[in-house]
Amino acid sequence: MIVSRDALEQHITSRTKLIIPVHFAGAAADIGPIRKSADDRGIFLVEDAAHALWTQYMGEQVGVKGTSIFSFHPIKKITTGEGVMFCSSDQALLDRIRQLKFHGLGVDAYDRQTQARSAQAEVLEPGYKYNITDISAALGISQLARVEQFNARRAELAAGHAERLEEVDEILPLRVPAYPMKHAWYLYIVRLDTEKARLGRNDFMRELKQRNIGTGLHFRAIHLQKYYREAMAMQRGMLPNTEWNSDRMCSVPLFPDMTLEDVDDVVNAIKECLSQ
Ligand SMILES: Cc1ncc(COP(=O)(O)O)c(C=O)c1O
Repeated sequence: MIVSRDALEQHITSRTKLIIPVHFAGAAADIGPIRKSADDRGIFLVEDAAHALWTQYMGEQVGVKGTSIFSFHPIKKITTGEGVMFCSSDQALLDRIRQLKFHGLGVDAYDRQTQARSAQAEVLEPGYKYNITDISAALGISQLARVEQFNARRAELAAGHAERLEEVDEILPLRVPAYPMKHAWYLYIVRLDTEKARLGRNDFMRELKQRNIGTGLHFRAIHLQKYYREAMAMQRGMLPNTEWNSDRMCSVPLFPDMTLEDVDDVVNAIKECLSQ
């Protein structure tokens, strides 16, 4: 999503500890100004790069600078079954994460093997069991070589969707940011213009399903979900832009094995649902 620096700064208070911009759907968030706001106030910044494998911002791969976390959950572009990748250019933070992720031991099996460290690792502090397994990692590594090929295909398919949906008045695809970036096209998200369409978003998704087109909802606004409504007294009206999008958005199929004929089928089904 595109967030202006002014909008962000309005929400920073003396209690703000962390800013987590999301590289949503594979588009790069405008990290430069956000990082400046965070740095100026000494607030820590972690980029949510769950959707951003191979996304570039200002000519640089997301994850190369600062601190970011990528997801390898089964619905992501490459998967390790479950698991994430933590990247940081802060060496002290990396060392601490490494220690905490494996029982608070000073070294892990990889260190012992590659750096001939002592086999008798010692617990230096209470830690967690948050390491990825070797089997999961092997699964992820085996897919890495194909990411660029997958991305190129996804970009072609996304362009196919965009071109075909241009003539559908009721559909508003997510805007692609104008600043220099490379989209990784994790999701192709459209918003249904409910003022123009004859049906609401949920019925639209249901009707597409009846035509054999699967869609997803990424995502319902968090602050309107039960826990946050009840535990934190959050309610409609607090985040109008988020709510507007949450009420209208839906992800249409986008995966590397799709063909442009499949894109035709998706768009034709969309047109059919809207024309009845
Ligand atoms: C934007 C975003 N952030 C974070 C996550 C969490 O990733 P994981 O389930 O691998 O922890 C997801 C998962 O779908 C996501 O879409």
